Amino acid sequence: MPLQIITSVEEMQNYSSVLRAKGKTIGFVPTMGYLHEGHAALIRHSCLEADITIVSVFVNPTQFGPNEDFSRYPRDFERDCHVAEEAGAAIMYAPTVEEMYPNGYSSMVLAGKESQVFDGVSRPGHFNGVVTVVAKLFNAVKPHIAVFGQKDYQQTLVIKRLVKDLDFDIRIIIAPTERELNGLARSSRNVYLSEHDRENASLIYKALTAAVDARQQGEKNAHSLQAIMQKILMTIPHVHIEYAQAVHADTLMETLDFSDDNSIVFLVAIRLGTTRLIDNFVWHP
Ligand code: PAJ
Repeated sequence: MPLQIITSVEEMQNYSSVLRAKGKTIGFVPTMGYLHEGHAALIRHSCLEADITIVSVFVNPTQFGPNEDFSRYPRDFERDCHVAEEAGAAIMYAPTVEEMYPNGYSSMVLAGKESQVFDGVSRPGHFNGVVTVVAKLFNAVKPHIAVFGQKDYQQTLVIKRLVKDLDFDIRIIIAPTERELNGLARSSRNVYLSEHDRENASLIYKALTAAVDARQQGEKNAHSLQAIMQKILMTIPHVHIEYAQAVHADTLMETLDFSDDNSIVFLVAIRLGTTRLIDNFVWHP
């Protein structure tokens, strides 16, 4: 079946109501477009879990700070439709900014406690924008399941909190991070990077691997684990390290020494020039 494009909230709601009435399960993959293999993997995952997969493409202005890259965020709608269709999506939901935030729009959802550290500090208001748009998209698409990528680890915790706290009847699935051959996590923002930058950015992967290896070999001190990442990241020319931390995987809380049964997330954010890159590994005992 060819991909069907829907651009209005009302049409999306009606379409999903009909699907639900027919007993179909709806899978949903929200994105900001410029789709890559990471997004495609989420779409394929959704297709395995649900009868019909809906992909949204919406570059959400409310999650960008005033000095961030909203206006220059990469866009290629035709290609996005092609990637989504190839991966198995049936519907592309692509509302305009005016459709999502019409004149008079003035409500926001407040992100929960997991939003108050890391990117919530460096990008004030970002997670409120994310949970607001995700809540709106959920209300338009009415999915049974929604798939998010582990690449944005803090976002997955914030979304799970939203769904739990506001009683959305939606099962959240987290899919693993898709990487380029050199280990760099795939991201729409990688187009901002030169060949040289991309090679250097693969050191993020090396830093995370080294930290996980150290934990595997028994290192439990958070500072030592962080120093391992810092040391490798600092070899990237002109890098600005925003954070490179080892924290509790379920709460993002800091600790001095992890115990044997703690799951740990290693979180990295760096800036290369004006491009901000994030990545993470999770270690389970
Ligand atoms: P975007 O950055 O387009 O990402 C859409 C989804 O793709 C997110 O769940 C993200 O974690 C996932 N993703 C991105 N890169 C990935 C990779 N390399 N491997 C696996 N999954 C990957 O995240 C957003 O958009 C927005 O914040 C959104 C949730 C759509 C709200 O506007």
